[in-house]
Amino acid sequence: MVEAGIDRVLIAEDEIARTVRRLGREITACYAGIDRELVVVGLLRGAFVFMADLIRVIRVPLVVDFISVSTYGDGTVSSGALKVAMDLEQTIEDRDVLLVEDIVDTGHTFSHVIRMLQSRRPRSLKVCAFLDKPSRRTCPVAIDFCGITIPDAFVCGYGLDFAQRYRNLPYVGVLKTD
Ligand code: IMP
Ligand code: MG
Repeated sequence: MVEAGIDRVLIAEDEIARTVRRLGREITACYAGIDRELVVVGLLRGAFVFMADLIRVIRVPLVVDFISVSTYGDGTVSSGALKVAMDLEQTIEDRDVLLVEDIVDTGHTFSHVIRMLQSRRPRSLKVCAFLDKPSRRTCPVAIDFCGITIPDAFVCGYGLDFAQRYRNLPYVGVLKTD
C-alpha cells in the first residue's frame, strides 16, 4: 500500500536499512582510530531522516551539526546562486568533516556547499549521499560514500520531499506525475 500521490515504491524499508548499515561500515572503517570526534554535517532539511539512522551505525566518536542552504529566487532552477539560510554552529577548521546529503541530482547544491566548507580549512572533508541521480549531473561531485544510484525520476520519502510533503514515508517512492 502506497500513499496517495505516490506511484510506486522504488526503495523499500529493508533495502534502506541494508544500505544504511553498509554505509555505516564503510564510514566506520574509513575513520577508525580517529583522534578527535568526526563532525557529521547534515544538509537540511532532506538529510535529517537518513542522518538520524546513519549516525547510529557509525562506530567512531562523532558530533553532529547542520547547515541549511536555499536558492535565491524561484527554487525550480537548480543553477542559481545559493545562500546559507542556517550556518553551522561549530568551527570545522582542522576537523574531520563528513557532509551528509539526501540526494545528489545536478550536483549544484553539493558542489556549492563543498566549496564553502573547504574554504574553512577542515583537516578532511568527505561526502555521503543516500541517493545519487547521476543522469542529471551538471556539476561533477565525487561522492565518497554513496547509498543507492537511482534513475531519473522524482522521488519522495525517507526525508525527501515534494513541496515539503512525504518526508515521513518510511520508503522511497516515485511521485505520480499526473
Ligand atoms: P541538486 O543541487 O540539483 O543536486 O539538487 C539537490 C537537492 O534537490 C536535494 O538536496 C533535494 O533537496 C532536491 N532534489 C533533487 N532531486 C530530488 C528528488 O527526486 N526528490 C526530492 N528532492 C530532490
Ligand atoms: Mg535537500
